Amino acid sequence: MKRREFLLTGAAICISGPALAQMKMMNHDMPGMGTMPNGQMMPQADIGAASLPEGAPLRDLPRLVNTATEPGRFEAELNAAPATARFAEGLDTPVLAYNGQTPGPLIEAAEGDHITITLANRIPDEESTIHWHGMPVPADQDGNPMDPVAAGADRVYTFDVPEGSAASYWYHPHPHGKTAEQVYRGLAGVFLVKPKIDPIPPAYGDTVLFFTDLRLAADGTMPPNNMVDLMNGRVGDYVLVNGQKNPILSVIAGTKRRFRLFNATNARFLRLSFGETTPMTIIGTDGGLLEAPIADVGDILLAPAERLEVIVAFDKPGTTTLGTLDYDRGWMGPGRPNEAGLSLLRVQAVEGSTEPPPPLPARLRSIPDLGTPSVKRRFVFGEAMSMGANGMEMAFMINGASFDMKRVDFVSKVGQVELWEVQNPADMDHPFHVHGTQFQVIERERGGNVSKPLYKAWRDTVNVARGETVRVALRQDMPGPRMYHCHILEHEQLGMMGQYVAS
Ligand code: C2O
Ligand code: CU
Ligand code: CU
Repeated sequence: MKRREFLLTGAAICISGPALAQMKMMNHDMPGMGTMPNGQMMPQADIGAASLPEGAPLRDLPRLVNTATEPGRFEAELNAAPATARFAEGLDTPVLAYNGQTPGPLIEAAEGDHITITLANRIPDEESTIHWHGMPVPADQDGNPMDPVAAGADRVYTFDVPEGSAASYWYHPHPHGKTAEQVYRGLAGVFLVKPKIDPIPPAYGDTVLFFTDLRLAADGTMPPNNMVDLMNGRVGDYVLVNGQKNPILSVIAGTKRRFRLFNATNARFLRLSFGETTPMTIIGTDGGLLEAPIADVGDILLAPAERLEVIVAFDKPGTTTLGTLDYDRGWMGPGRPNEAGLSLLRVQAVEGSTEPPPPLPARLRSIPDLGTPSVKRRFVFGEAMSMGANGMEMAFMINGASFDMKRVDFVSKVGQVELWEVQNPADMDHPFHVHGTQFQVIERERGGNVSKPLYKAWRDTVNVARGETVRVALRQDMPGPRMYHCHILEHEQLGMMGQYVAS
């Protein structure tokens, strides 16, 4: 087991390959962590520099128009290119956008659809890809870093969304060494797969809340990642919902609403609550609906890349705030952001005539057990930091190794059920994500105490808190290379990722 080494003595640990290359690329001159020479090191340094308007009506994300002429097909183009966004009054912010939009356009397909989406990479001098986060797509269509789309090139992604795969997915770039930056600069969007028959009453609506995290310098630009960002993952100054700061959703008092929550931030842990008097009912996770609703939930932790679906009842007229509570995910160095007390969305319930909402069904669907795993694997997170000749150097590892695109970490069998044990002896929480499939959490262990999850669910991302071990069962149904990694994107970029091949 690798403990994090934190050496300020000049004794360099061994960092090789992409992690070191990345550090050199950042070209930071770091005299030491304790003595931050300038305010630029602080993640929150620019707070208040720009003023973002708030309180506008919550917008629906624009939809990607389906240009297919036959039913059962979805065809479109996503053009990734520089664009300008207006977040703060009077300031233009250079961003990266899909079809001019950040967040990208919402893709809505139905189970059984055949998808053809062309990525036009118009990002100058940068490779990109589109990864279909959480979706069961063939490995060669999943936007792996091994399959880059060159600057100026087009690439067609094609795959089917199978029956039973309805869920709240998302898409984002996954190029080698550039994922974190392309995502925080604006490239990410929602991919909804709708079921043929939805057990959730349509009267609840279906509201997407796509959380991103923005940092703006005083001139309206997005500052590059600093050393604190590389250690902890980039945490911005503003958590936006559908690209807006603290918007307002108006509802009629006495209604119930369905929300789909997406954590599309690079590294922000969102512990969310509508307040003590407004509990949530969880109905779904990354991979779609639960078997039965989980009522009376006061707050939920949404780690980077996770999604949850909840139902909330707004019984009386008045304003309810979707806000954040404190969550300590382990913070390295200065500038721990204040996670608690952010208002992300306000729901205004107004008097009006409405039918009483139909009840939520007691049973939503059934989730099969995966069966007894025939293989067990162990993944151990590691963090290492030290002072080297070029300043602070860091490595993020799984099983002692940083990601190497040319290395296949192991080979598995298509259709084989496996038990993966993910250990986090390090100092920060790391949300673990696997491509191409959905898994089930079997148990968590901390300090010798083992606990079972409260409900069965399909997930593609699970937070492994520091000091915790999480065991999941999974299976890959299609052959090919798949990534697994920490979804703090700076950690992924600095090496906390592996690659395996199912065959
Ligand atoms: Cu959203 Cu490799 O992941
Ligand atoms: Cu993914
Ligand atoms: Cu991590």
